[in-house]
Amino acid sequence: MSVKHCIKVDDFSKNEILDLFELAAELKSKYRNKESYQPFKDHSMAMIFAKPSARTRVSFETGFAWMGGHAIYLAPQDIGLGTRESAGDLAQLFSRYNDMIMARVYSHNDMLEFEKHATVPVVNGLTDYNHPCQILTDMFTIWEQKKDNLSDLKIVYVGDGNNIVNSWIRLASVLPFEFTCVCPEGYEPDAETISYANSKNISSINILHDPIQGVKDADVIYTDVWASMGQKEEVNERVKIFSPLQVNNNLIQHAKNDYMFMHCLPAERGREVTDQVIDSQNSIVFEQAENRLHTQNAIMLTLANKV
Ligand code: CP
Ligand code: NVA
Repeated sequence: MSVKHCIKVDDFSKNEILDLFELAAELKSKYRNKESYQPFKDHSMAMIFAKPSARTRVSFETGFAWMGGHAIYLAPQDIGLGTRESAGDLAQLFSRYNDMIMARVYSHNDMLEFEKHATVPVVNGLTDYNHPCQILTDMFTIWEQKKDNLSDLKIVYVGDGNNIVNSWIRLASVLPFEFTCVCPEGYEPDAETISYANSKNISSINILHDPIQGVKDADVIYTDVWASMGQKEEVNERVKIFSPLQVNNNLIQHAKNDYMFMHCLPAERGREVTDQVIDSQNSIVFEQAENRLHTQNAIMLTLANKV
């Protein structure tokens, strides 16, 4: 039997994603009620981190432990991915020790190597190319509020056309909604990903450069850091280029009154978003961050065929 992995958002069909959301909602209520739940008793998961993390590490480790399993955190210096050992060898090794592998790496090719060589499910915890667990969580967070009206939503991302945006576009290839990315020229999301999603004809995908035009009548305004992990030395140059895209009180005037502000976090407050916006009533960033736990629990149970 072939093993199911979560390497990209569209490894799940539309119906599987909607089932994930139902399951995540059930798990959220179980978790909040402190119910005992042990589907991963006697199971273990290797968590490979080549980059820093707060949410991904803690939500996966906490979630797997709550479900009765043992998650093992491996820091960048423990693994030496690509220097001490190859992704393919690690995937074969951990497939013998563990029931699941979670990995956060720089190169998406390393993730594809894990996928190719693992005989247990692999969960992508972010690469330079994408961040599927984040975007499935983000849409779950919107679904909690809007349920059946997802296809009417105008979701506007303002900032760098990075891994977060590539995942939004891949989601738009399976679930219908209106997606706009406002970014500076030269910082667009991956062109092949845009063509692929457009070829599916499911959603309308717009790439714009004018933030006021972009956020007009938005239901969701989403942003992320201007320099991702691995680009931090470019930050000063990027601040100059991206400043006109700051999400602040002037920009949000153009969205719907009840728009939701979202950010995958960590936020660099005062850069891509002001305190007034991220701390406002419209901001759901901590609900979104909490939902990483519940959505990932649903993903892990689904991959492990435990639903
Ligand atoms: N959003 C997110 O993945 O956060 P971390 O980098 O802290 O894991
Ligand atoms: N684009 C950011 C997301 C962090 C969760 C990064 O890759 O650093």
